[in-house]
Amino acid sequence: MIAFKNVNYFIEGRQILKDVTFEIPSGESRVIMGHSGSGKSTILRLILGLICPRSGEIYVQGKNICGARERQLQEIRKGIGMVFQDGALFDSLTVGENVGYYLLEHTKMKFSDIEEKVREMLGFVGLSDEIIDRLPDQLSGGMQRRVAIGRALLSTDPKIMLYDEPTTGLDPQATSNVIDLINRLAQVKHVTSIVVTHQIADAVEMADKFIIIDDGQVAFDGTLKGLSEATDRRVVDFLAPFRESIANIRKIDFI
Ligand SMILES: Nc1ncnc2c1ncn2[C@@H]1O[C@H](COP(=O)(O)OP(=O)(O)OP(=O)(O)O)[C@@H](O)[C@H]1O
Ligand SMILES: [Mg+2]
Repeated sequence: MIAFKNVNYFIEGRQILKDVTFEIPSGESRVIMGHSGSGKSTILRLILGLICPRSGEIYVQGKNICGARERQLQEIRKGIGMVFQDGALFDSLTVGENVGYYLLEHTKMKFSDIEEKVREMLGFVGLSDEIIDRLPDQLSGGMQRRVAIGRALLSTDPKIMLYDEPTTGLDPQATSNVIDLINRLAQVKHVTSIVVTHQIADAVEMADKFIIIDDGQVAFDGTLKGLSEATDRRVVDFLAPFRESIANIRKIDFI
């Protein structure tokens, strides 16, 4: 479970999040959408406990993370997998070293056992283990994104997965592969997931509930039906460029 209660967050005196409140029950998925700079990545950083709000509370798996002690915080973080906005692989490490990084650095597992786990994970995220010795810049954007998801999965035993713009910059085939992987993880591992995206067509494939952040405020929190009926100016304006794709989605729903 993830819950924000009246969260206010400031950077250098500027208010970035304003009275943000929402709740995501365990095992559910939410898409967070909003204009660039509206505060989406900030919400993910708050969930990870990397920063704390000026006021309000944030609960992750039932614990108030900003009141948590360092050890408790580490325990909570172990259950959260994060895929960062830019993929964020280590450029100078091979695919295998990237995916197995946590096990190599933080456990005493034998190298051969780690390699086996890495190969298994590459298979799980839909990649051939032949790329194990390649460097990230020898992979396509979509492959890099899947390596990043594989690394998050081997670094933690995630109860929660956070994805920041996982499909941005990918072609339709790579996008569809990454979306399938995100959905499979939600279904097979029953993780609670939050996906930040700009792409509404991708959004509706990854969740059936949506949060729209506008200038640091929750402008919408609800279903696709609610979204298509919303009259709030901020929501209508945000959705305006996507009106046609929403109409298509609705047509499909009515068939
Ligand atoms: N370290 C920082 N110092 C100053 N301002 C910051 C810092 N980090 C974020 N901000 C500001 O906070 C606001 C929210 O940033 P955030 O990264 O959460 O936006 P976002 O919704 O993820 O945007 P995008 O879609 O472009 O990734 C922005 O106006 C940004 O300029
Ligand atoms: Mg962002």
